[in-house]
Amino acid sequence: MTKTLIAFGTRYGATHKSSEVIAKVLKEKFNHEIELVKLSSETENVDLSNFDNVIVGTSIAMFSWTKRAKKFLKNDFSGKKLFVFISSAALTYAALEKGEMEKYEKHKGRFLDKVVKKNANVKPTSTAVFGGWIKKGKTEEFSLFNWKEEDMVKWAEEIGKLTE
Ligand SMILES: Cc1cc2nc3c(=O)[nH]c(=O)nc-3n(C[C@H](O)[C@H](O)[C@H](O)COP(=O)(O)O)c2cc1C
Repeated sequence: MTKTLIAFGTRYGATHKSSEVIAKVLKEKFNHEIELVKLSSETENVDLSNFDNVIVGTSIAMFSWTKRAKKFLKNDFSGKKLFVFISSAALTYAALEKGEMEKYEKHKGRFLDKVVKKNANVKPTSTAVFGGWIKKGKTEEFSLFNWKEEDMVKWAEEIGKLTE
């Protein structure tokens, strides 16, 4: 059975939800055995030896990855298929939604490609940009919501095929 680790860093929960959608698709449609790990101080040393594939996801806020997800990229992923996604609701995904492709490429370059390239050991088979949400203060209302489940379903199906 194919074993896949999904390790994610989140601040406001969107990356967690995206990871759950990806997990569900890979489990149900592609029969992967999934371990879902929310990166925190308690997950400093995740043992990667058991996994065939690793999916890394991070929240982008204040122009940066979560500290733990960034640190997680320092692992040795050799012999595994690696996949990386970001939840960049206000800049990268917003530009994509508006069809502002020049802006989209610029933000994707800054928040995804550049971070990936900084790590010589990180060679993702595929990457993705997802939306997320921003709440109005402490209320349940959103000032921005562009999280779309179908985006994660589509990418998970691509991962499923690439890992068959
Ligand atoms: C304080 C704050 C700063 C943010 N900064 C950025 C940013 O720099 N770029 C961006 O694309 N989105 C930004 N966002 C939107 C986030 O990408 C969005 O909240 C997303 O859901 C974050 O992922 P998470 O929910 O997993 O933490 C910001 C949101 C907040 C609340």
